[in-house]
Amino acid sequence: MSMLSKENTNEIFEDIKKNLIRGVKDRKHTFHTPVFCNIDDQKAIESRVVVLREFDSPNMVLNFHTDFRSPKIASLVKNNNSLFVFYDQKLKVQLRIKTISSINNQNIITKKMWEKTKLVSRKCYLTQKPPSSITSLPEDGINDNLKGKEPTLEESEKGYKNFTVVQNKIRQIDWLHLAASGHRRLKIILKDNIPSFNWIIP
Ligand SMILES: Cc1cc2nc3c(=O)[nH]c(=O)nc-3n(C[C@H](O)[C@H](O)[C@H](O)COP(=O)(O)O)c2cc1C
Repeated sequence: MSMLSKENTNEIFEDIKKNLIRGVKDRKHTFHTPVFCNIDDQKAIESRVVVLREFDSPNMVLNFHTDFRSPKIASLVKNNNSLFVFYDQKLKVQLRIKTISSINNQNIITKKMWEKTKLVSRKCYLTQKPPSSITSLPEDGINDNLKGKEPTLEESEKGYKNFTVVQNKIRQIDWLHLAASGHRRLKIILKDNIPSFNWIIP
């Protein structure tokens, strides 16, 4: 990023894509855990950290995984407008990425991804009560027989019906670069994955 011209829109666009790819692969990269926002059933904003699982650069799609029973699924079905926020202190770059979300459950996309998940990750999808449901005790919702251990492959398969891949098609990127010499801000609008650029005042 240090060699990047902060004035060349195509270079900035390529650099954004490069860093999103890094964010998927490198668990230590700050882009690995963006904030994902949507509108809930009461038309209120909801935001939470998610793990960036995939970035399909040619199609400009960002994916994360979640539990089908999570309230954000029903909200996204009603209103598929969503937004990711990324910030990297070293790069001094903030990305605000507007997306349209689609839900995948028990289909070819989830099947492919489920096969790649580790047993320990599958445990998240094995809670008895749905995520966000009220409980009388502080607990993680996992059955006693699975406490402190990995599920067997057979046990883990019960989680598949809950495993959900949220695909988020990028429609707009707001790139902000902070610099003592002058901040820069670029709005990138994507139509059929082709970017158009507008400089804006930071
Ligand atoms: C580092 C980190 C990574 C997380 N990754 C995910 C994720 O990939 N998917 C997810 O649904 N929740 C993830 N969570 C939990 C969410 O932030 C949130 O608490 C949970 O999804 C419930 O949110 P909801 O009530 O809006 O559905 C993560 C939390 C942290 C702190």
